Amino acid sequence: MTETDKQKLGSLKKSIHKYDHLYYVKNSPEISDREYDTLYQQLKELEAKYPQWVTPDSPTQRVGGKVETRFRQIVHSVPMLSLDNTYNVDEVRAFHQRVIKGLPDVPGNTIEYVVELKFDGLAVALTYENGKLVRGATRGDGIQGEDITANLKTIRSIPLEFSVEGESFKKIEVRGEVYMPRKEFARLNALKEEEGEAPFANPRNAAAGALRVLDPAIADSRKLGVFIYSVGYMDTNIYKTHFELQQKLAALRFPVNEHNRLCSNFEETLAIIEEWRGKRKGLDYEVDGLVIQLNSLAYRKQLGSTSKFPRWAVAYKYEAEQAVTEILEIVCQVGRTGSITPVANLKPVFVSGSTVSRATLHNEDEIKRKDIRVGDQVVIEKAGEIIPKVIRVVAPVGKRKPPFKMPEFCPECQTPIFRAEGEVVWRCVNAACPAQLKERLKHFASRKAMDIDNMGPAVIDQLVESGRVTNFSDLYTLEKDEVAGFERLAEKSAQNLIDAIEKSKSAGLGRLLYALGVRHVGQRAAAILAETFRTIQTLQETPYEDLESVMEIGPVIAESLKSFLDQESNQKDIEKLSNLGVVLEEQSTPRKESELTGKQFVLTGTLSGFSRDEAKEKIESLGGRVTSSISKKTNYIVVGKDAGSKLEKAKKLGVTLLDEIEFQKLLESD
Ligand code: IVH
Repeated sequence: MTETDKQKLGSLKKSIHKYDHLYYVKNSPEISDREYDTLYQQLKELEAKYPQWVTPDSPTQRVGGKVETRFRQIVHSVPMLSLDNTYNVDEVRAFHQRVIKGLPDVPGNTIEYVVELKFDGLAVALTYENGKLVRGATRGDGIQGEDITANLKTIRSIPLEFSVEGESFKKIEVRGEVYMPRKEFARLNALKEEEGEAPFANPRNAAAGALRVLDPAIADSRKLGVFIYSVGYMDTNIYKTHFELQQKLAALRFPVNEHNRLCSNFEETLAIIEEWRGKRKGLDYEVDGLVIQLNSLAYRKQLGSTSKFPRWAVAYKYEAEQAVTEILEIVCQVGRTGSITPVANLKPVFVSGSTVSRATLHNEDEIKRKDIRVGDQVVIEKAGEIIPKVIRVVAPVGKRKPPFKMPEFCPECQTPIFRAEGEVVWRCVNAACPAQLKERLKHFASRKAMDIDNMGPAVIDQLVESGRVTNFSDLYTLEKDEVAGFERLAEKSAQNLIDAIEKSKSAGLGRLLYALGVRHVGQRAAAILAETFRTIQTLQETPYEDLESVMEIGPVIAESLKSFLDQESNQKDIEKLSNLGVVLEEQSTPRKESELTGKQFVLTGTLSGFSRDEAKEKIESLGGRVTSSISKKTNYIVVGKDAGSKLEKAKKLGVTLLDEIEFQKLLESD
């Protein structure tokens, strides 16, 4: 590389970082999009010429190409606590009194607070080493989270690097809240509706979904934002106050919210609560309250935390928007697993920015508990301000209708419905129930499952009602002429539908497993199972214990999958799918080719350097698999202290034995 190219590369990276910050954090771009694109293009070209100079903090590396199959668990260096909630001024005053009590030497009226907006998103922790972003993680349970670095890097307002001055900030972990802007949420949900998918309930769920997609390119397509609000760890103690530290973070180009306010005494905080009650609705992101916290870091230390909450901060939550309307009707919907959910049809009412005419009533017990009846006036609320639910009945006047009763029969197929002991949900247990079949087919065809375009609800209704499709495999015997006569399906769409069905044959095991709609087997579990077991045949042959022992699978999923695969009707359908050319193997190449890829391990005895779970996690992270029992398929047995009978069996079968040192070497060889 010539010196000038090297300099140019460095200065391009710097400029792009600067313009990203001006655009995404400051909202004040200094150059046109076109000029920006030119710089970006120049950088890409230089990097193509000198691939060895592509660094992880380059602006071109925001969207990594690698699609993950799961996220790594990480343990937070300092636990991520949550905040105690308050709902009225008296509770906030009580918090202030507790602070005063905890700081006996400080005059109460001199205690400074910082008031911040409480963003309704997801907490994340970003670790920087020597000014470079090295890791981004979810909060998880506060102790352990997931490594979502690749997805977080797609958020343009997150700096990939900053310039470290002197000795401070060589290592720092900043914390903040990732959110989805309201506009982006509206765009995404409109798109989902178009695609016949259920919309996200609220921006928070949508943001959570985007952060946990395994393909960073998809995360990138959801325009997320972030506000950095605190520091989890840093290698300096020169900052005496929270506000000062935040100003420093902002100077380093972290996106710190512009509305944070320093209050010189407690009374000022109360005025801010009132100020934002209405004003928060005008923001481009959802704010569900305020965070009121001590400014002095020394006082924070003095007060400390309980196991859950810091004693130096509290959240003030605004009440959710409510409205009163009338219940016109209660109907029961049949889901794809046969679950029967009561839903209220409401007299349309406007609340939190949209008209609401339906609300979920969850289940029979909820209706009984709240004694909700047709004709009642009810208070409804948008939880997270999107999905409405019925909170309570307004004190009824006059004669009411009789209490609601669950139907005795499935509203669709008239089979008696059933509620298992200990469950709250009623189910239609008729596997051939057309309503369930329709829902299952909708799920099967949906974008994240087999992704069959042109197979919308109207087509599915006709396929089922004509009796032509009674299971998944029937789809793959459809011919164009049969569907061409369907209502609302033009000739061209008929061909498109047949083509889309054909194309879905190669979706691969992960999608197929998800598409089959096995209870508890979500997209993620399906992807993990497919990646681990590779073919449906292996899955069918794998004993319950080995399914259950896969990281993140667990007994509930394993049990449900096993009973699905053991059912004869399902086996027949799977066999038919296979005969009709549907691929029953995982298509994606294993995440990482290594010595361990595809190898089966059995662990026996106690290892000194690892717990069982750690050893298992290590093996799985390198593409291997751990099973509980020895078979001919076992490649290695790792032998710890006090090994049991498995060792004998392994010897008989000629399985390669590894002691702990050899095992360690094998892991490191990668
Ligand atoms: S400070 C010890 N500041 O609210 C926790 N949190 O209920 C200190 N949140 O987990 C958190 N906006 O996800 C803080 N300006 C803000 C916040 C904020 C949103 C979230 C955060 C936290 C939760 C606590």
